[in-house]
Amino acid sequence: MGLVTIVGALWGDEGKGKITDVVNEQADLIVKTNGGANAGTTFVIDGKKHVLHLLPSGVLRGKRSLLAQGIVMRPEQLCKELEEFDWKVSIGIDPRLHVTLPYHLALDYAREKAADLKAKGDNKTVGGAIGTTLSGIGPTYEQQKSRAGIRFCELAGDEEKLKKRVEENYNYVKGIIAQSGLDVVMPDRKQVDGKYVVNEVPLTPEYCQQVAVESGRKLGKYLSDVSLEVIEALGAGKNVVFQGAQGTMLDIGFGNYPKVTSSETRAPAAYAAVGIPPVPMRVIGIVKAYPTKVGSGPVVTCLDGGRWPVDEACSDDIAKTIRKRANERGATTGRARRIGWPDMVVLKYSSQLNGFTNIALTLLDVLHDIDPIKVCVEYEIDGKRTDAYPSWDLDALARAKPVYKELPGFGDITGVREYGQLPDGAKQYIRLIEQATGAPVSIISVGPDREQTILRDFKPF
Ligand code: GDP
Ligand code: IMO
Ligand code: MG
Repeated sequence: MGLVTIVGALWGDEGKGKITDVVNEQADLIVKTNGGANAGTTFVIDGKKHVLHLLPSGVLRGKRSLLAQGIVMRPEQLCKELEEFDWKVSIGIDPRLHVTLPYHLALDYAREKAADLKAKGDNKTVGGAIGTTLSGIGPTYEQQKSRAGIRFCELAGDEEKLKKRVEENYNYVKGIIAQSGLDVVMPDRKQVDGKYVVNEVPLTPEYCQQVAVESGRKLGKYLSDVSLEVIEALGAGKNVVFQGAQGTMLDIGFGNYPKVTSSETRAPAAYAAVGIPPVPMRVIGIVKAYPTKVGSGPVVTCLDGGRWPVDEACSDDIAKTIRKRANERGATTGRARRIGWPDMVVLKYSSQLNGFTNIALTLLDVLHDIDPIKVCVEYEIDGKRTDAYPSWDLDALARAKPVYKELPGFGDITGVREYGQLPDGAKQYIRLIEQATGAPVSIISVGPDREQTILRDFKPF
């Protein structure tokens, strides 16, 4: 029995979905802790690809799956995902979580557009747009904090009251958007000739009311006190997995503020997000073999010229190879992810915040023909060497120069299933990660499929 929390150690897209799915095999209950439709998680099972945004990964193994209070839930998106499972999944939604309605997406988009117009397309590290996923995440958490937001219990409750609340909130958002001289429009992201473009669709309060009422009718039956359900499951000796979204460096407090998401992404925050006391927890940090980032903000070891959005023509050859090989594009937005050399300074900071008990190293196979592999072990900032990460000082991070240690490449490892069979170069890299995090690398992922996983003397529960 026990509790396992899975969190991204970097800037998201570390392969949390795949590892959660592996751990879920022995779990009874899977709980998504934070974030919303901004998350995009890909699973490959027997060669077939599945992408989930809001549903917890437990649904792929037919296990009870819960959305905790810390989530912001976009009802149309959840209905769409449930539709794909013919509504035949066992889920519970906490009545206290806040719902993301279309006007939240409109505000997210208006803010990003206004910031872009102000910066006139000049993407400096500080200022300009964040490059959000336009999923309405910031505005939903913002309304939660200002105590004006609509919770799931209201979505599932009295329809006339709900309509009134939706109209009030629409008007509130309209007022904010009007200050930037913009209209209330929904961002509709489409792919045209391989490029993502955003169409603007006018948004009415009636449409928002319709979305709220219709989804409330469909989803109301899933209302469950998730906090209590988890406490009871743990008390009964069940195996529980907390599935984190995004990554530690996107944490609202400890990430690269303001280039962050709006939820707390660290493992200790999961206790509060789910509503349980601090019982013993195993914390698996998901470390992608090379960091990637969508959106703006500092990546000291960046191989894409440090700019956002990525100008793919100007990317380093290694970044181009990796992007092509691992399709480094957001599952939610399709945007090219920036790619960097492995960074032990970031990992040390991430482990310090999360208390990793174990590391799962993912996408190691992608580096197979890159030789040498450059691993950043320190930064040089203004002539001084340091391995302490100044997460709050984006200017210092923009000036930081990575100090690299070179490791030998290691060749194809996609067929390896035992740690002892990994080549020496891969083991050297694993040792550096263990030194930086102070935790054993217990899971090594050598391909996207569930089966392409090495467990190194490791049982999650
Ligand atoms: P998440 O948001 O952390 O769940 O990660 P994403 O699903 O957004 O991105 C990870 C991508 O890497 C997905 O396309 C996965 O299928 C893929 N992936 C996961 N682990 C591995 C691995 O070990 N090797 C390779 N080649 N791909 C992987
Ligand atoms: P998963 O769970 C990678 C990034 C966005 C942007 C910033 C704020 O798939 O790892 P938001 O829409 O949250 O307000 O955007 O955070 N971001 C992610 N990057 N993976 C994610 O989720 C992300 N969720 C948000 O690109 O830079
Ligand atoms: Mg993702």
